[in-house]
Amino acid sequence: MIAAMFLAAALPLFAEDAPLLAEDAYKNIQVLRGLHASELQNTMFFMKGALGVNCNHCHVNFREFEKDDNPKKAVARRMIQMVRSLNESQFGGQPVISCNTCHRGQPRPAAPLAFAPIRESRPVAKPADAPPPASLPTVDELFERYENATGGRAAHARIKTRLLTGVQLSTEGATRPFRLLQQLPDRFVRTLTVDSDWYEVFDGSKAWSRDNHGAHELKSTRLAQLKRDNTLFDPAPLRAQYTDLKVIGVEGSDFVVEGILAAFRNQRLYFDRDSGLLVRITSTAKTAFGPLPEEIRLEDYREIDGIKLPMLVSFLKRDGAGPRIPENDPDYKPHRPRKRNKRVSKNSYDAGS
Ligand code: HEC
Ligand code: HEC
Repeated sequence: MIAAMFLAAALPLFAEDAPLLAEDAYKNIQVLRGLHASELQNTMFFMKGALGVNCNHCHVNFREFEKDDNPKKAVARRMIQMVRSLNESQFGGQPVISCNTCHRGQPRPAAPLAFAPIRESRPVAKPADAPPPASLPTVDELFERYENATGGRAAHARIKTRLLTGVQLSTEGATRPFRLLQQLPDRFVRTLTVDSDWYEVFDGSKAWSRDNHGAHELKSTRLAQLKRDNTLFDPAPLRAQYTDLKVIGVEGSDFVVEGILAAFRNQRLYFDRDSGLLVRITSTAKTAFGPLPEEIRLEDYREIDGIKLPMLVSFLKRDGAGPRIPENDPDYKPHRPRKRNKRVSKNSYDAGS
């Protein structure tokens, strides 16, 4: 389920405030020159989603992305040049045309004209929508309901440290052990076991990562996201990540709150109207072809030591392909918490993330 987190961790991470370009950070950039290095990964996700393929449609394996052995990579380079020149010559350099304008989730855009359906001319009565609430709740009320729904202020205040263990699944079929050690409200050590243990650490003022590309300080975008991700289970610290929060309406069965995270506008938090739980956060990432929608889903809330925690947390990019079941595991079942006696410490739980 977590394509985003795994792949983001699998590649070098660059701070957005360092003016590092893709051609300087990567080994074999021929057409995406001038793109900020921090936008390369999401640009790849965009192409993957627009074509409805996985990374290996254009690459040869999940490591040597710089190799040119796959002929589809050369086709993709020509397509990138075509899209860029169309946008430059016809649309004043704005990212109006993208891979998805033609591909729409398929590697070869087949667009036969469809037969028009025969329409009834009699007016059809529309089913009435669920009645809108008489008035919208306030941001304070929604966060208070979220806090109460997950155990209440006193129960949250009792938790000082927490160890979450679980597995991280990716849409590419990778399954990795994952641990998150938290000292509330904001310090953490996240560990993902790939070929060795990869770390992301925040000590309260600075953050670092350590992976197979060495150690880096994490800043701006990545730091803001990491800090927010670390507060997903704790209403008050989560709220503190955002500024300018306001309730903007109702969508389906959720109340929607919009706010700013670091420099990023249009961040939306969805609270279930019935349960009060936080169920979704949406935002967009910058890519060479325009914004890429991103979403965090929190599902399967269960109570552990007086606090309700989501057992499944999915970090998704809207890439058309949707969540995929690990290819090497036909009997894949969503991860479930293990027996209580296997827990590592009092406040730990198994989060299938
Ligand atoms: C539609 C084809 C296509 C897909 C799908 C695709 N890529 Fe790429 N990728 C390319 C092309 C083309 C380049 C080279 C761009 C250039 O020359 O400017 C590239 C370059 C890269 C690079 C830079 C390598 C280097 O050191 O030069 C990385 C890293 C990368 N891709 C990762 C990924 C990942 C991860 C995915 C899956 C999420 C992915 N790509 C999916 C076509 C693709
Ligand atoms: C104007 C429409 C259009 C746009 C925009 C477009 N493509 Fe294509 N693309 C096509 C068509 C048509 C084909 C099939 C060509 C053929 O059948 O020979 C194709 C084929 C491809 C293929 C080969 C697929 C395969 O598996 O055989 C790749 C890879 C590809 N496009 C990548 C991209 C990428 C990446 C972008 C965005 C940077 C992009 N395309 C944008 C029309 C487009």
